[in-house]
Amino acid sequence: MKKLTLVLALTAASALFAADGAALYKTKGCMGCHGKDGTMKTFKAINGLDKATIVQKIKDYQAGKGGPKKALMLPNAKKLKTDAEIEAVAEYIATFK
Ligand code: HEC
Repeated sequence: MKKLTLVLALTAASALFAADGAALYKTKGCMGCHGKDGTMKTFKAINGLDKATIVQKIKDYQAGKGGPKKALMLPNAKKLKTDAEIEAVAEYIATFK
């Protein structure tokens, strides 16, 4: 029974986590440039990436590193203020296939 409670608690927590990432994706403006499912190619499509890669890329942008169009992305990466915010938004983006 204890195990079941734990599983339920973890499921609830990860659902919260995902909801948080989805909210950040909208409120921090990511959706405007990458589209609601990350497939918008106007700037750069970000679908099909795994969570660890996304976290790393966001941290690279925050440190001033990136690709040819990084100037567009840098100020946006800086809108994510904590590791928890980066993790949450990366987890959400990783669901884009
Ligand atoms: C002004 C438009 C714009 C906004 C807003 C924006 N991005 Fe980006 N993003 C870009 C561009 C342009 C690139 C490619 C930059 C480069 O050349 O490295 C990029 C790249 C990325 C990449 C790396 C993709 C790859 O395959 O290398 C990730 C991940 C990403 N953005 C996530 C986000 C998140 C999360 C947010 C919201 C906090 C966000 N972006 C907001 C324009 C934007």
